Amino acid sequence: MKKIFVTTPLVLFLKGFVVFSYAVAQQEQKGENNCVACHATNSPGIVKQWQVSKHGQLGLDCLVCHTAAKGEIDAFEHHGKLISAIPTPNDCAQCHEKEVKEFSKSHHAQAAQFIGSLDNLLGEVVEGGPSANLGCRQCHGSEVKVLKDGKLDHATWPNTGMGRINPDGSKGSCAACHYRHTFSVAQARQPENCGKCHMGPDHPQLEIYNESKHGVLFRSFIGAMNLENEAEKWIAGRDYLFPTCASCHMSATPNQPVTHDVGDRISWTLRPAISTKLENWQKRRESMRDVCVQCHGPAQIVNFYQQYDEAVHLYNEKFARPAKTVMDKLYESGKLSRTPFDEKLEWIYYELWHHEGRRARMGASMQGPDFVQWHGFYEVAKHFYFEFLPEVKEKDPKLAEQLISTEEHRWIKGLGKEDIKKTVEFYKGRYKQ
Ligand code: HEC
Ligand code: HEC
Ligand code: HEC
Ligand code: HEC
Ligand code: HEC
Ligand code: HEC
Ligand code: HEC
Ligand code: HEC
Repeated sequence: MKKIFVTTPLVLFLKGFVVFSYAVAQQEQKGENNCVACHATNSPGIVKQWQVSKHGQLGLDCLVCHTAAKGEIDAFEHHGKLISAIPTPNDCAQCHEKEVKEFSKSHHAQAAQFIGSLDNLLGEVVEGGPSANLGCRQCHGSEVKVLKDGKLDHATWPNTGMGRINPDGSKGSCAACHYRHTFSVAQARQPENCGKCHMGPDHPQLEIYNESKHGVLFRSFIGAMNLENEAEKWIAGRDYLFPTCASCHMSATPNQPVTHDVGDRISWTLRPAISTKLENWQKRRESMRDVCVQCHGPAQIVNFYQQYDEAVHLYNEKFARPAKTVMDKLYESGKLSRTPFDEKLEWIYYELWHHEGRRARMGASMQGPDFVQWHGFYEVAKHFYFEFLPEVKEKDPKLAEQLISTEEHRWIKGLGKEDIKKTVEFYKGRYKQ
């Protein structure tokens, strides 16, 4: 799977040309009406941040991103120029076409499309609008609305959620990861950058990473990480020692360029009630393996994936599929109303897959043993046997009986004498109790 990098001389030449012409234009535009000069007194923070950025250092000024075309719905006249307050991926694409293309085909770019989901009903209806604006949409993205007077609707902006729908119709916000106005790769490579969204009870990737040896090593050796290197010069194992989120999901290896589609290297989806493999999952897994083997031998990685697959299967087959089958039957027979979240069983089931069920699977994917066990399978088992099962029993005793009739659930009807004896002996031997 060796590939040649596609940063061809032509692209570099074109970039050089754009940079050159902007720098010239900027020189001609000194004085009162210059964006930088005036903003240096009106909003010095913005100018300072811009000055330390690659853009600032190359003389790519405010207008390269903020210029608006006539007819753009959020465009306004500002000191003799037509500008917009919201640069979008379309603006960045003038110079970063590859990144924009990859990003646009990713799940990240679709992140604002959650209208039909259970989570949306929870945020918008069960909780309420303002909670969804400052909660869900700050991670997923809003649909930015321009009011009749040209101002931006406060319910929809400020917002740099991942899949934001912009006034020009484009999707996504590059500032979700590259904060303005430094637009730095070093900041984007920090685990905390991803952790703004990838954290909490339903997708604790940051906490899992922090617990993993990778996270511990990253923090111990952060000074040797060369986080500010350019993309082609930030290769795991060659230019730095330990992986961050970006290393595994985005950054270059000797055989692969950087990708802005974070789905390119994952094989399972761990989000739904029952996990499934993605289309072309073998190819995606191969791309991730190519990252791992920069620092590990092949045997460790093959075995790791077996451990991970087995944990996902365990969750799927022992708990998720039987629970979902029961829920489907209760809806069919009318013993559960079709309104989500109006019955206790629906909350129990939701948390079973959406909270602890995800934690168990996600912990398994990225070496977070405490998330696999105590935040994961322990809670799954406890809620399955002592909340879900009793609640089902109340609605349909026969169905409850079926739910625990299979081999792996038989223990709950009583262990054999041998098993009980073993447990007693263990505690005697270990704690004298
Ligand atoms: C003579 C001073 C001056 C110049 C020149 C100037 N600005 Fe501004 N700009 C301001 C002030 C003051 C504000 C605060 C809001 C206002 O009064 O319009 C502002 C606001 C803005 C905003 C935010 C609008 C909002 O809704 O919050 C943007 C974006 C902006 N300027 C970009 C630019 C760009 C790009 C240029 C160069 C074409 C530029 N400015 C030139 C003074 C200036
Ligand atoms: C590389 C592109 C880029 C350059 C160069 C740039 N900006 Fe921005 N600017 C952005 C992006 C992206 C946003 C975020 C808008 C959003 O998505 O909400 C932004 C937002 C803003 C805002 C409004 C948000 C706020 O925090 O109030 C102002 C004002 C602004 N820029 C001024 C400037 C000025 C002044 C300069 C030049 C010194 C400049 N920008 C240079 C991309 C750029
Ligand atoms: C007029 C051309 C131009 C535009 C428009 C532009 N950039 Fe850049 N950008 C560059 C150049 C040139 C560099 C430095 C060389 C490189 O990394 O490609 C750069 C570098 C970067 C880097 C790497 C910084 C680092 O620390 O190495 C990021 C991230 C970035 N740009 C993001 C953006 C985003 C996001 C936008 C849109 C909001 C944008 N750029 C708009 C030309 C542009
Ligand atoms: C802290 C940021 C954050 C908040 C707040 C948040 N989400 Fe999410 N959401 C995420 C992340 C990150 C994922 C992807 C998790 C993964 O892949 O492991 C996600 C996944 C989802 C999914 C699954 C998408 C799919 O393709 O399967 C839906 C639907 C969803 N969220 C809707 C919502 C709604 C509605 C709200 C508000 C009630 C909300 N989220 C609040 C960050 C957030
Ligand atoms: C999920 C977070 C994330 C988002 C969203 C994101 N980037 Fe990046 N970007 C990164 C990371 C991480 C790197 C550094 C990759 C590496 O390790 O070399 C990077 C690198 C870059 C670079 C410089 C390196 C290169 O690939 O040549 C540019 C330019 C860039 N991004 C532009 C963009 C643009 C434009 C957008 C919006 C379409 C965008 N990024 C959206 C995380 C992100
Ligand atoms: C050592 C490499 C590595 C590091 C570091 C890493 N991941 Fe992962 N990540 C993986 C692997 C492997 C998977 C599972 C891929 C599969 O299913 O084939 C995964 C899966 C995921 C998923 C998919 C979950 C879903 O819903 O399907 C998300 C989201 C994710 N990681 C985010 C992160 C974030 C955020 C960080 C940093 C806080 C991070 N990862 C750090 C290797 C890594
Ligand atoms: C602003 C919030 C936000 C940030 C920052 C963010 N993500 Fe995400 N990410 C999301 C959301 C929301 C989803 C789920 C999108 C969906 O399916 O609707 C997601 C999904 C993913 C997925 C699953 C992709 C797939 O195809 O199924 C991976 C992997 C991932 N993110 C990795 C990362 C990494 C690595 C970073 C940091 C470099 C990062 N994310 C930064 C919000 C974010
Ligand atoms: C940049 C180097 C690097 C990359 C890339 C990397 N790892 Fe690691 N990983 C390490 C180091 C170093 C350790 C700690 C080794 C030790 O002392 O146990 C480690 C530890 C581990 C462990 C725990 C081993 C143990 O004995 O406890 C597993 C499992 C693991 N990595 C799997 C992976 C997988 C899977 C990938 C790819 C998705 C990956 N690693 C990518 C460097 C890396």
